[in-house]
Amino acid sequence: MSKCCILFGPPGAGKGTQAARLEAEFGLKQLSTGDMLRAKIQSEDPLGQELKAIMDQGKYVSDDMMIRLIQERIAQQDCKEGFILDGFPRTLPQAEALETMLSAAEDVEFLGAALIDVDTNILVKRITGRFSCANCGAGYHESFNKPKVAGVCDRCGGTQFSRRSDDNAETVANRIKVYEESTAPVLPFYESRGNLYRVDGMKGVNQVFDDIVLALNLTSVKKVEKNDTEQG
Ligand code: AP5
Repeated sequence: MSKCCILFGPPGAGKGTQAARLEAEFGLKQLSTGDMLRAKIQSEDPLGQELKAIMDQGKYVSDDMMIRLIQERIAQQDCKEGFILDGFPRTLPQAEALETMLSAAEDVEFLGAALIDVDTNILVKRITGRFSCANCGAGYHESFNKPKVAGVCDRCGGTQFSRRSDDNAETVANRIKVYEESTAPVLPFYESRGNLYRVDGMKGVNQVFDDIVLALNLTSVKKVEKNDTEQG
């Protein structure tokens, strides 16, 4: 049976960091709606400029578009083992649509939603210090997670780095405000169903990972087998 879980948290809480690790460990596909939208912008999709303008202001893209995007994505072959929703749902209509999608799909088990809790002043620091390799996308932070050799990507050796256009202080403040107004009210939807698990996101990345695994009972999911090189 396929597994599904949600990672909630304000901008910069660590959803992307943890979803990527969960995918590597358990083989559940990371579905980052932010990454999907950025890919649309990069691919010169006709809607690209409209999406960029919305995201650069820290506002939300329409529910209709997001619901369609996720509905199409979870039907794809690479989600058959399961998927981690990183950035969806963000509004009540999105949560309701997801519930309908999951109940229509008989072979998906919902493991629950983990909320990564982080103090607001830390969020701004995490986001404004974040950058990534322009070649392979590996993520770094200028204080918390620097490349081992300054200016060289640990993963691919690339020397070009980029920052997201919505990672400036002004847009971050609006993203946090929009989260409080539109996404925080979604939490009771899951809490009332007994499916919401709070995790202290102020802890280190490894501890937060362990806490999520425990909260969502991912210990019951078969781990991805790693080859000798990867096990190092
Ligand atoms: P999206 O890309 O999802 O942005 P976000 O929700 O604002 O979240 P971030 O990606 O900024 O942060 P994160 O929680 O993933 O943190 P990360 O792991 O990178 O969405 C962008 C936009 O797309 C939205 O604003 C909206 O416009 C649109 N959109 C997307 N989905 C939508 C939807 N469903 N509906 C409508 N619109 C939608 O970590 C941040 C930094 O902190 C990193 O540098 C990391 O290394 C560091 N870090 C992580 N964990 C720790 C830790 N425990 N300790 C120390 N440092 C840590």
